Amino acid sequence: MSTQKIKDEFRKAFGVTPKGIVAAPGRVNLIGEHTDYNDGFVLPIAIEQRTLAAWAPRDDGRVVFASLQQPNKCDEIDLCTAIETGQHAWGNYCRGVAAGLIENGIELAGCNILFDSNVPLNAGLSSSASLEVATGVALLAVCGSESSVKPHLLAKICQHAENTFAGAPCGIMDQSISVMGQANHALLLDCRSGQTRQIPFDAPNTVLLVVDTQVSHDIGDGGYPARRKQCEAAAEILGIPALRDATEEMIAQAVAASKISDLQMRRSRHVVTEIARTLAAADLLTFKADGYLQKFGELMYASHASLRDDFEVSCPELDTIVDLAIPRSGVFGARMTGGGFGGCAIVLVEENHAESVTQVISDGFKKQYHRRPPIFATHPAPGAMLIE
Ligand code: GLA
Repeated sequence: MSTQKIKDEFRKAFGVTPKGIVAAPGRVNLIGEHTDYNDGFVLPIAIEQRTLAAWAPRDDGRVVFASLQQPNKCDEIDLCTAIETGQHAWGNYCRGVAAGLIENGIELAGCNILFDSNVPLNAGLSSSASLEVATGVALLAVCGSESSVKPHLLAKICQHAENTFAGAPCGIMDQSISVMGQANHALLLDCRSGQTRQIPFDAPNTVLLVVDTQVSHDIGDGGYPARRKQCEAAAEILGIPALRDATEEMIAQAVAASKISDLQMRRSRHVVTEIARTLAAADLLTFKADGYLQKFGELMYASHASLRDDFEVSCPELDTIVDLAIPRSGVFGARMTGGGFGGCAIVLVEENHAESVTQVISDGFKKQYHRRPPIFATHPAPGAMLIE
């Protein structure tokens, strides 16, 4: 995806050369799944796939959003009137971000924005977060307010846009990593306090493979909101603000007193153990003791098993990929990543085994589902930025 192409397309669409171009990446989460909305910890990386937004000012107080991925579906808002949801689902992400920036006191200026993205859509790689963040950074660049919104607030505005304008009750992880990602680093984010730590994720001779089940994933669908509600209900029964505050003993006591259902027990157990795994994983990557990648891989498997059995957000295609990866030499670990119910799995593998492992997963998946899943290698990429 080249900046030349978006410049050419911008000229075709709007008759002028764009004044600036910004980029915002998608993400994969290394570990810490379904913990963000429970006030827990997550450990994602930004990926090389990203959304570009080229912009140029216009002087009639209107903002026009166009996307190369959504031909003939331009969206347009008038900055003098209240911003509401519009007729194009994709445009609502942009509308929500514009509304959020205004609510936070930013005086937006009229502009044309054209998006181009190579983040696969509906693959659980946060294409929507990258669109929101690209929108936010572009709108701020247009009015020269790049530094007036702190990274955490920008992530919150984008999350709020997705919750309210797009109707998807996501947590704060995807937008945070799209804003704050750093090359060669994973981001340890405390989703309660907003505190972050950049953790090197740069082991030599290792590769992170992303395997796309192409089973479509939409977090507005029933499964994700239902998990959120189950977690909130469990926290209420346990008498705590969020499952972040739960312990395994607390859950065991609630089970013994028949206060909590089996389902709520398993949902809570996933969150408690997943938060512990995430913190342990961050320590392993920080201290790099002997065999740390093997141990990190074991945490990945344990995370997958917990998401499959306790949280029940995996699917047969994701399980197949993890089962194919586990016994291969050179593989450290594998797990589903993102919200689940489809989307992608990640496999951490030694570089010199990456090709054979890719082949085994591709063949094994094809045998079962009669198609090959797209597989690509990824590295931690930088977060959102002005690129021109
Ligand atoms: C989706 C949501 C995130 C997070 C993950 C699960 O990606 O957008 O906020 O909840 O699922 O970890």
